[in-house]
Amino acid sequence: MRLAGVVEQVVPVRLGGRSYDIVLHPGLLATVGDRLGALTSSPKIGIVTDRHVADRYLQGTLRSLCKAGYDPTPIILPPGERTKTLSTIGKILDVLARKKFERQSLLLALGGGVIGDITGFAASIYQRGIPFVQVPTTLVAQVDSSVGGKTGVDHRLGKNLIGAFYQPRAVLIDPLMLRTLPRREWIAGLAEVIKYGIIADEEFFAFLEKAMPALLKLEEGPVLHAIKRSCEIKAQVVTADERESDRRRILNYGHTIGHALESLSGYRGLIHGEAVGIGLVQEADLACHMGLCGRDIVERIRSLVQRAGLSDQISQPSFAPIWGAMQHDKKVVGGQVVGVWPVRVGEVVIRPIERQVCATWFKNSHNPRRKSSNSRQPGKNLSVEKFGHEGKSQ
Ligand SMILES: NC(=O)c1ccc[n+]([C@@H]2O[C@H](COP(=O)([O-])OP(=O)(O)OC[C@H]3O[C@@H](n4cnc5c(N)ncnc54)[C@H](O)[C@@H]3O)[C@@H](O)[C@H]2O)c1
Ligand SMILES: [Zn+2]
Repeated sequence: MRLAGVVEQVVPVRLGGRSYDIVLHPGLLATVGDRLGALTSSPKIGIVTDRHVADRYLQGTLRSLCKAGYDPTPIILPPGERTKTLSTIGKILDVLARKKFERQSLLLALGGGVIGDITGFAASIYQRGIPFVQVPTTLVAQVDSSVGGKTGVDHRLGKNLIGAFYQPRAVLIDPLMLRTLPRREWIAGLAEVIKYGIIADEEFFAFLEKAMPALLKLEEGPVLHAIKRSCEIKAQVVTADERESDRRRILNYGHTIGHALESLSGYRGLIHGEAVGIGLVQEADLACHMGLCGRDIVERIRSLVQRAGLSDQISQPSFAPIWGAMQHDKKVVGGQVVGVWPVRVGEVVIRPIERQVCATWFKNSHNPRRKSSNSRQPGKNLSVEKFGHEGKSQ
């Protein structure tokens, strides 16, 4: 990826007193120390990272922080979801206390979503809250997890069961860091990018259709645009609904089935974005079955997901475990599974779904001979909430 000479982009996240900027600039890591000046008055900075990221980027980060006069303490964790536990939080808090971190000392999350979620949660509880900054290093983290203030860890009985809403002071994105990301992680991140087009912006979706080959080659312009537009959409949704009541739910598109498949694979077979890729297509198919969108929408989404190199098929042969896993999702309200359904590309609706409807769809869509029978046209006069382009809430 050749990115020199590109101007810095800033996406503001407007949340009153908790507002912050997402700054996007190739090569930003070298200047990270200079960018923290306004965010903390203490020289102490804890850099929370994992081994993979530390091997590649810790030295550069330390150099930049020391040059700017800070006293950094690296906290290097094992990579992977298994680190996202309360016991890791305990270990981070031990270091902060031992090193006498104060209320103004800052934590810097240098890593993917796992590191961001852990660091934000540790920052939210140490001395009842110290500042933290996200330096996301995966595509998932740059377009999704670093923005919005959801922090937390897993419990043995459920993913992300423990946590807090806690906003970072800044999100500093260096797209050059994506060059070292394993290919599988890059492609999984594209599922979240495609999601933004479907839930809020047809023009962006059309851009992705055109630019997918370039994105797969990590070409500079398309990569920057994809990250920036994704951050804008996430920032816009989060601004409208910080604590996840209705509007923020649209970010969950593809995740009702996606989370179910992820959990059925024991969080080992499929990585998150891969499960979401399948969810994007299958939830559109289910929306079509419910009469909410046309078959053309499903096929348009399927085609882009496939071209990103993601799977669109559920390999699970039976329905009961999928429904069971869907019901364990945190987003379930009063025992009801509430989904996000496209009515066209760029516009979604939120509605509950009944077991019977889902079961019939599953039976049909897993029996090719009956598949054409569920290709209905979009429903008219739907009395449902719709969320579309540029925050338009119709
Ligand atoms: N808070 C939120 O709103 C939110 C949203 C989405 C996902 N998440 C969480 O994010 C986590 C998933 O995040 P993820 O997909 O970034 O996974 P991750 O943090 O586990 O990173 C994936 C792998 O890539 C490695 N890596 C990271 N950056 C690298 C780089 N630049 N070069 C080489 N290797 C690199 C990591 O060491 C790890 O092995 C999950 O725990 C999920 O729950 C949170
Ligand atoms: Zn996701």
